[in-house]
Amino acid sequence: MAIKIAPSILSARFDRLGVQVREAAEAGADMLHIDVMDGHFVPNLTMGPAIVKSIRPLTQVPFDAHLMVTHPQEFVKPFADAGVDDLTVHVESDHDIRATIRTIRDAGVRPGVVLNPATPFEKAAPYLEHADMLLIMTVDPGFSGQAFRANVVPKIREARRYIDKEGLTTEIQVDGGIKVDTAPIVAEAGADILVSGSGIFPDRIRENLLAIRRAAEKGRAGSKRV
Ligand code: DX5
Ligand code: ZN
Repeated sequence: MAIKIAPSILSARFDRLGVQVREAAEAGADMLHIDVMDGHFVPNLTMGPAIVKSIRPLTQVPFDAHLMVTHPQEFVKPFADAGVDDLTVHVESDHDIRATIRTIRDAGVRPGVVLNPATPFEKAAPYLEHADMLLIMTVDPGFSGQAFRANVVPKIREARRYIDKEGLTTEIQVDGGIKVDTAPIVAEAGADILVSGSGIFPDRIRENLLAIRRAAEKGRAGSKRV
């Protein structure tokens, strides 16, 4: 499977969001990453279902919503109704993780679980059998434009080994500080989907996306998983 690139629209220009969403889609984005923050789980507020609904008709590219909220259960239906394809929920949020995954699946959306940089892999392992994605954060969630945390790389390798050993199909997504220099590192470690905000938006969207994809493919070629 080829590496997938998921531009995070949090770094787009909000006064031209629709235009930038189309540009990213036309540049070959495999999915669009939508960062949802509630001002409680993380110290920032971003976008809700109304924004998702308004950009949904602009492209066929799957929408991947990353819920950085304290009570993810409450937001499953609103985002499913707004047209997201994937919903990822933090294991650090306040919820019954299994029940939330089931609610997401029942809503016709692909569920995923997310780990903060400080949370060990074993907190996600019990859910991977039921999750389509494992999102490993390489920055503390809350803001785009932060520096990549290289100390998370061993966790990506650990997740890769576990998923392969168990014969699971869960995709590994990596999010935070992914740019041309860090993309090969996470691709080599076993990531399948690379999220990038400030590495792609707001200018030269096509060039940036293609450069990150090229760098990631080189990284993957250096691993045994080509
Ligand atoms: C951080 C978000 C990320 C962020 C990525 O809380 O989950 O998706 O927007 O932005 P960059 O790529 O700039 O780190
Ligand atoms: Zn994110």
